[in-house]
Amino acid sequence: MTELLDTGERLGRGELETLQLERLRATLRHAYENVGFYRAAFDKAGLRAEDCRTLADLSRFPFTVKADLRDNYPFGMFAVPEDQVRRIHASSGTTGRPTVVGYTERDLDTWADVVARSIRAAGGRPGHKAHVAYGYGLFTGGLGAHYGAERLGCTVIPASGGMTARQVQLIQDFRPEIIMITPSYMLTLLDEFERQGVDPRTTSLKVGIFGAEPWTEQMRDEIEGRFAIDAVDIYGLSEVMGPGVAQECVETKDGLHIWEDHFYPEVVDPFTGEVLPDGEEGELVFTSLTKEAMPVIRYRTRDLTRLLPGTARVFRRMEKVTGRSDDMVILRGVNLFPTQIEEIVLRTPGVAPHFQLRLTREGRMDALTVRAEARAGATTAEREAAARSIAGAVKDGVGVSVGVEIVDPETLERSVGKIRRIIDLREAG
Ligand code: DLL
Repeated sequence: MTELLDTGERLGRGELETLQLERLRATLRHAYENVGFYRAAFDKAGLRAEDCRTLADLSRFPFTVKADLRDNYPFGMFAVPEDQVRRIHASSGTTGRPTVVGYTERDLDTWADVVARSIRAAGGRPGHKAHVAYGYGLFTGGLGAHYGAERLGCTVIPASGGMTARQVQLIQDFRPEIIMITPSYMLTLLDEFERQGVDPRTTSLKVGIFGAEPWTEQMRDEIEGRFAIDAVDIYGLSEVMGPGVAQECVETKDGLHIWEDHFYPEVVDPFTGEVLPDGEEGELVFTSLTKEAMPVIRYRTRDLTRLLPGTARVFRRMEKVTGRSDDMVILRGVNLFPTQIEEIVLRTPGVAPHFQLRLTREGRMDALTVRAEARAGATTAEREAAARSIAGAVKDGVGVSVGVEIVDPETLERSVGKIRRIIDLREAG
């Protein structure tokens, strides 16, 4: 295996930290000199790049948040002249202006390298065919996966998202070993394989590289069991690069190794912003170490996780993301994440792995209803037992009462990309 590692992956921990500090100082300098936003922020804090003498000194620098990117829409965060920007991506978000990100030629090269490294860590090899069902376009998923797979030496099938029946046919005919797709869309494909009378365990697929949304160990078991593949996690976000910031290794499946030679992670207390020691859960924050077009300094991801020591690689790991702070529901003072419900629904007999959370207001209280789909053929008694079991498990495990509705098979909306778990029906204001 080690003969397959690239130069960055072969570094010792000490060598890695020396490289990180050097790259960090260069990034701080580049951001200060070329982005008005960072110059103003560092000046306000009375800091210069030279003040970062150790990796720990980074914690003295100010955070960057999504609103800063929106305020500088479209190109105000770019640190190079516009004619050096080779590509632009954007995420739509729910309201207002999209968040725009840019890449130089070298950034695109780095991105392809980290995605290639990710696919290799997932078990992909040169010569494999990779079916890419992440959306192509302004979303970073499709094109990010695409160029990384090509860089590794795979044959790419750029399927993009949607047209599910055709996806199944392409997989049957082209016989890819690798699929790159959101876990929720993989479940949609699962239904379609079954609808077409194809046993999903008999496909050519060996490795699934799933990301762009949170998913749980229970979902891994479901997908691995139904498809006979290894299911591994890929993480990333547009502001930092796109897919390929961190990747789970197939040999350990123990959380995601952060490609720390390019992205420097911190975990902070989401309320105080204080840096937490490795092992403690908080909000993940990234500083880019090699980006040219749009360096990011201490970017707050809103994703909750913790940092763990490296295992299969020298790089530190992040635990599977519990959820985004934005997706946290506060119910009678109790914090609840959709992933907690996913764990419960997926281990409940009689229900399919499809569920939705409906948030309503009853008087002055918020209420949550879990709507889960019955498995085909489940009897009324089985459905009632499932509803009781889910409600009981949420009460015991999360500590709050929720309503549970078991709906008929194939009635909940299916994902074609990132799934929307929470349907907020509370009146505004
Ligand atoms: O979703 C990039 C990506 C594409 C990652 C394909 C992996 C695969 P954005 O649209 O900017 O970029 O959304 C980033 O998605 O902050 C997380 O909240 C969430 N996310 C991404 N990957 C994971 C993951 C892409 N593996 C946001 N687990 C991030 C949990 C994830 N959440």
